Amino acid sequence: MFISTYQKGSCRDNGDFLQQAPIAVLYHSQPMYDAVDRILIDRDSIADRVEQLGQQLVAGLRPAADVGRLVVLPVMTGSLFFTADLLRHLPLSFRIQPITVSSYPGRSTTSQGIVEQTPLPPGLDGATVLLVDDILDSGRTMGHLCEQLKTAGAADVRCCVLLRKDIPRAVEVDCEYVGFDIPEVFVVGYGLDYDGLYRNMPDISVLKAPSIS
Ligand code: IMP
Ligand code: MG
Repeated sequence: MFISTYQKGSCRDNGDFLQQAPIAVLYHSQPMYDAVDRILIDRDSIADRVEQLGQQLVAGLRPAADVGRLVVLPVMTGSLFFTADLLRHLPLSFRIQPITVSSYPGRSTTSQGIVEQTPLPPGLDGATVLLVDDILDSGRTMGHLCEQLKTAGAADVRCCVLLRKDIPRAVEVDCEYVGFDIPEVFVVGYGLDYDGLYRNMPDISVLKAPSIS
């Protein structure tokens, strides 16, 4: 299993004993990891890529930030950790206005489109909006939000996702900032959930098939 090849040294925050344990031992001793088949993207690779994305975003968004027009809209809850890490690489002036959207309710693993959403914040007229989400799958969520933002008067809408599934999309979305292209698998961790669980895993992993029902 890929998990057993993951090296110690990445588990810095787990105390002295666990720092000395191979990651395989650490994982197998935690019931949360029983459901994990393999790590797809480990925490160090995520951190490196997020930093690079931050640099790309600074270059693209500085003009809007410098004239006070930049607003960042993280799509909660999936982008919670991604947003927190990414935005600390942006030494720019902007407001953060999270919205909560649900597209995969409960145990569903196929997109239902947006099924619940909090209202957009006021004051978007003329703004450059950076939409930040965890993953681009069917494209329905980002596509729908882009339309809403344009209707709300946003002058420019930029999309940033950590993951993009390599599948034909129901709704085409022009996503300028992408962390990783991944195959068509259901992933959890680093904010991504299955039935509300596993968001707190530091790596992005594929669940064992029997765990998905
Ligand atoms: P879309 O509307 O089909 O593009 O789906 C986007 C939303 O579905 C994302 O914001 C995620 O919350 C969720 N999602 C899509 N794929 C996955 C996955 O593999 N794991 C967990 N959540 C996912
Ligand atoms: Mg989401």
